[in-house]
Amino acid sequence: MRPNRHAEQLALVGDRRAALRHVLAGIVPPGTPFVWEIGSGHGHFLAAYAKAHPDRLCVGIDISSDRVARADRKRERAGLGNLHFILADADDFLASMPADSLFTTVFILFPDPWPKRRHHKNRVVRPEFLSAAAARSEKGAGLYFRTDYEPYFRKAEAIVRGHPDWEGQGAPSWPFEEASVFQKRAQRHFSLEARRR
Ligand SMILES: C[S@@+](CC[C@H](N)C(=O)[O-])C[C@H]1O[C@@H](n2cnc3c(N)ncnc32)[C@H](O)[C@@H]1O
Repeated sequence: MRPNRHAEQLALVGDRRAALRHVLAGIVPPGTPFVWEIGSGHGHFLAAYAKAHPDRLCVGIDISSDRVARADRKRERAGLGNLHFILADADDFLASMPADSLFTTVFILFPDPWPKRRHHKNRVVRPEFLSAAAARSEKGAGLYFRTDYEPYFRKAEAIVRGHPDWEGQGAPSWPFEEASVFQKRAQRHFSLEARRR
């Protein structure tokens, strides 16, 4: 990348993260732990989860503005004050979280599989993501990953197993079942649970 282009990209990321910090300051009160969903799509899972756990602050993020808008309509119709959907990328979110707030649980349900090797860098579950997520989560925090794409599942399992901050759990005990849009379409799925050391 040309040096000028690189500087422009960095400035854009900086602006995006500053805007996100501002949004997050309005929805995550200082020191409040929260439940996080990455790639919340149309919001089916997190809306049901937030309804079943009215005492927990829940934040869903997605990079598709249409999906965030749709999820947000679901939240409004259900009148759920403990639920928020925002337009954000997972790495930007981690870099913009309020300094004194940690997540207790993260759900990653049917993430984009990026099957081609040269695109694996776009996957959510990467060692750098796990390091940043460990720095922003409570000790014992749960990471719940589910996909219908077995190669991504096997790779995510290996990445978690090789990561010093997360401990894979043998048989996942899934904390809450509500089929997402992609789960309803899937013939089968694979689930992974990990705990922050
Ligand atoms: C295959 S869809 C699954 C949606 C939903 N979880 C479900 O199971 O129905 C993946 C979603 O992740 C979102 N996504 C992809 N990369 C993301 C990222 N880096 N940060 C946040 N969301 C992302 C996409 O926009 C899309 O809505």
